[in-house]
Amino acid sequence: MFKRAEKIGDIINKSKEVHIVTHIDADGITAGSIAYQTLNRLGKEYSIEFIKQLDKEILERLKNENHELVWFTDLGSSASTDCPEINKIITDHHACPDNSNLPFHLNPHLFGLDGGLELSGAGTTYLVSKIIDKKNKDLSSLAIVGACGDLQDRRFCKLTGVNRDILSDGEEIGVVHSKIDIRYFGRETRPVYKLLQYSSDPIIPGLAGRESACISFLQETGIKMQDGDNWRKWIDLSKDERRLIISNIAQLLLNKGFGYRSTSRIIGEVYILNQEKEGTEVHDAKEFATLLNATARYGKFEVGLKVCLGDRDKWIKKARNLLLGHRHNLVEGLQFAKEEGITKRDYLQFFHAGNGIRDTIIGIVANMLLNSREVSNDLPLVGFADKGDGEVKASARSTEELVEKGLDLSLAMKKAAGALNGVGGGHNIAAGATIPKGKEEDFLEILEREIKTQLSY
Ligand code: C5P
Ligand code: C5P
Ligand code: ZN
Repeated sequence: MFKRAEKIGDIINKSKEVHIVTHIDADGITAGSIAYQTLNRLGKEYSIEFIKQLDKEILERLKNENHELVWFTDLGSSASTDCPEINKIITDHHACPDNSNLPFHLNPHLFGLDGGLELSGAGTTYLVSKIIDKKNKDLSSLAIVGACGDLQDRRFCKLTGVNRDILSDGEEIGVVHSKIDIRYFGRETRPVYKLLQYSSDPIIPGLAGRESACISFLQETGIKMQDGDNWRKWIDLSKDERRLIISNIAQLLLNKGFGYRSTSRIIGEVYILNQEKEGTEVHDAKEFATLLNATARYGKFEVGLKVCLGDRDKWIKKARNLLLGHRHNLVEGLQFAKEEGITKRDYLQFFHAGNGIRDTIIGIVANMLLNSREVSNDLPLVGFADKGDGEVKASARSTEELVEKGLDLSLAMKKAAGALNGVGGGHNIAAGATIPKGKEEDFLEILEREIKTQLSY
């Protein structure tokens, strides 16, 4: 892998002008930003664009733009053998075919690693950046944010694989550190009761989704939850206060019949960006990733990019405003999907949001739903949303248990979309596709057949 990264570094060094093409999610934004900084520091001529997915039209346009070199980050693996006219390099981590093992293509799957778990798009891009110049090790913090954005810390409650080497780089030069703490979202910026109210992994029964129940639960510990008019945040609590709350949550879960394994998931590794101010979204890697998801997914690419490049003034304020809208959209999206209703079939369950949920956040909503109490998690969940122009976006999410049984959503979505003239792909646990509107039923039938075959081996 390092040899391949070196080769790609050489290609970059030899080029004068490079155009970066990256993805709109947190991993894509951090990947693009790492590439952007790398080129900036080399004094190259460079530009960047953010796209939802790579399709034939975009490839055709890029071909006509005649860039000296195109650098695809967090996407591109599925098209590595297409359009040889484009002089390109790819640093991606999505599932890719065997015939894509090419000198300009870096992807953990080509080297026997799991791109859904051990290395993100940002991490893959970082490897090239670091090989070009050791001074780029400061960009490891962005790679950690990218990995957390792709939920790569989820399976083991900590980052694993090459992600850990990247973490070591960051720790070595002091830009990031890890510690064991509560894993619920919002440690740095949200009132403590919100962590419990939005708890999902594990869900806290009786508290999740119930604000007043969360507040009472915390009051019963005797810990002062307000400081004047302000709600205290997790980071405002003393070690003993945090310990007491964690042990009370654990007790509650055990009383409700949760096993040790799921109860212990309350705590795990969290990642802190040392150079950022405590109590801001960019101090905690998971919160940083969510802040980024609130930007490019809404077409505000520049905001996400500037925040990654270090702006802590005008652009981070814009990002915070977008975050309010993003949170609102997620809450509304969840509500909308529940009202529409989830239809169960033999091998999958699905909902169709039509115009009710943006195609760029339908995957996040599907993921949250699958991890909520309202939806059973014994079947993969597919969410549809209209994209306009006669196209529909499909986002599929699954669980570790089904993946262990042989489910590969990436392959299934790719096949089902391909059969209908669409495109699809991703990871075994999470994948997406775009198909012609009106073909949803056909798509579900093919997808179901594929899933059935995968699970029966
Ligand atoms: O495009 P990309 O690779 O960046 O996105 C990965 C996707 O996989 C994210 O949407 C993430 O939420 C999802 N994922 C998941 N469960 C996991 C790991 C990743 O839903 N355990
Ligand atoms: O868009 P969504 O969040 O559902 O995507 C889940 C995963 O599938 C992401 O890693 C995304 O990059 C990937 N994907 C893909 N090809 C598509 C759509 C999504 O590889 N056409
Ligand atoms: Zn990614």
